[in-house]
Amino acid sequence: MKFTSETLRETYLKFFQSKGHAIIPSASLIPENDPTVLFTTAGMHPLVPYLLGEKHPAGNRLTDVQKCVRTGDIDEVGDSSHCTFFEMLGNWSLGDYFKEEMIPWSFEFLTSPKYLGIPVDDIAVTCFAGDNDCPRDEESAALWEKCGIKKNHIFFLPKSGNWWGPAGTTGPCGPDTEMHIIRNHAEADKLGPYDFDKAPAGTFLEVWNDVFMQYNKNAEGKYEPLKQKNVDTGMGLERTLCILGGKESVYETDVFEEAIAEIERLTGKKYGEGGEVTRAFRVILDHVRTATFMLGDPKGVVPSNTDQGYILRRIIRRAVRFGRNIGLPQGSLKQVAYTIINKYKDVYPELVNNKGKIEEELEKEELKFSKTLQQGIREFEKVAANLPAGGVIDGVTAFHLYDTYGFPVEITGEMARELGLKVDVEGYNAAFAEHQEKSRAGSEQKFACGLADHKEETTKLHTATHLLHAALKIVCSPDVEQKGSNITEERLRFDFNFPRKLTPEEVAEVERLVNEQISKNVPVVMKEMSLEEAKKEGFTGLFESKYGERVKTYTIGDFSKEICGGPHAASTGELGKFKIAKQENVSAGIKRIKAVLINE
Ligand code: ALA
Repeated sequence: MKFTSETLRETYLKFFQSKGHAIIPSASLIPENDPTVLFTTAGMHPLVPYLLGEKHPAGNRLTDVQKCVRTGDIDEVGDSSHCTFFEMLGNWSLGDYFKEEMIPWSFEFLTSPKYLGIPVDDIAVTCFAGDNDCPRDEESAALWEKCGIKKNHIFFLPKSGNWWGPAGTTGPCGPDTEMHIIRNHAEADKLGPYDFDKAPAGTFLEVWNDVFMQYNKNAEGKYEPLKQKNVDTGMGLERTLCILGGKESVYETDVFEEAIAEIERLTGKKYGEGGEVTRAFRVILDHVRTATFMLGDPKGVVPSNTDQGYILRRIIRRAVRFGRNIGLPQGSLKQVAYTIINKYKDVYPELVNNKGKIEEELEKEELKFSKTLQQGIREFEKVAANLPAGGVIDGVTAFHLYDTYGFPVEITGEMARELGLKVDVEGYNAAFAEHQEKSRAGSEQKFACGLADHKEETTKLHTATHLLHAALKIVCSPDVEQKGSNITEERLRFDFNFPRKLTPEEVAEVERLVNEQISKNVPVVMKEMSLEEAKKEGFTGLFESKYGERVKTYTIGDFSKEICGGPHAASTGELGKFKIAKQENVSAGIKRIKAVLINE
């Protein structure tokens, strides 16, 4: 069967629907209440509370297509395999089925002519080899063999290869079994059961990962058995399309067809020319797609100098720089974005709803950077010309390139590498810290993946967030809506739409209202209902749901009504004293409050 991105998504979801799974919508690209990571990095990420035992309103068998961003190696984008945005097909068992069902389903989906139709002989699998934390996964190996996978195509790997998670330092994790397509049988057949890693690159291509999530790694680094045994699977949509279609890279799949034609039209160059031209096409394709999804997200990000906004700025500017190399006319990133919106409009209608914003922000950012790009490049070239081979651009110069010409230090670093030079990043950070109240180093640390845990403090702050939201609607305006939320053990952070900072009187009134609810010790009541009912009953929340029919609602007396995944404190009396610690500007129209709970 020949697949397109549309038919592959549909085939996957329908398959798991036929196995009793509820299809749930993709969550936002911006994780809710997870301070350790900037973007949603895997399908399981928005489901962490449920993997840890919260009840999901759609049931305990779920499937979805999740939009993901991984920004670990932006500078590698341009080769045939790296992308910053991708979609992950996935299915989950929340304490329901386990290996005995999942492995035969994986086999059926991969090999049945009704689904992917991959010949059984072309499939190799890897299983966990076992160590002190968890025994060797004989069960999975036996199940694969029973399905019909050849014994010499079943390999064993240690934790480094066959263990998934926790995404951060703590959280749910477990042994996994990965499925690969054999691209080179001669090489594959030479290998013993422990030699998988010894195969030359290109022998195998990974298609799918089934994680048997049965442990929680705690803060002491110990693996404690989870209350419930879960299954978490992930199949990269673009990568699978690429493999099934026998393409060299994900850029040659249908996902980018229209966008490639548009860049060819705009530049007069051909994607297939090879070398630097192909690299520039790929950078533009990936980065414009990622920027379009970030700007078009229901919790949309705009370019800025911190956190998600900085990543967005960095990728837009990198696209502009590579665009220049192939003569992409100034102001045309938005033209490329239109093709992306068009391609994804049925699956992610938010892109259409936010088209104006995507267009405007891309245009603004492109213009801002284009103004100084040529001058900045000249300045860079002057500096580079005065350095010996292998020389280092000092931190103050790198900061000057950022501050005056808008070159994110990573772009300077990449330009330096192209000439065999380096950048003193530590020196840059020191120069940056001197000039800014907040060094970017703080946000840089968040690039590592991580998951929010559900400690008591974060749960209380989550409930306080609902009270704050309700109080802001009373004090500021009924139109106030949550635009972002992030909770650490120390504080909550809440972004909302309001044109100005609150006056000291307004701050005091918000605090008073929240503390009043706390002193009344109001119970926090959870109720499941359909999204329609929730809307009718006046619950607030992001109504981004397409398939998600049943939702959880949380009511705090007659004060707050929100659609939310939880978890929450049982009653407001547990919270302690609420205090607003800080107000900040996020962008025009979006304000931020940081608040704490003081234990009394
Ligand atoms: N969470 C697993 C992964 O991302 C399925 O590979």
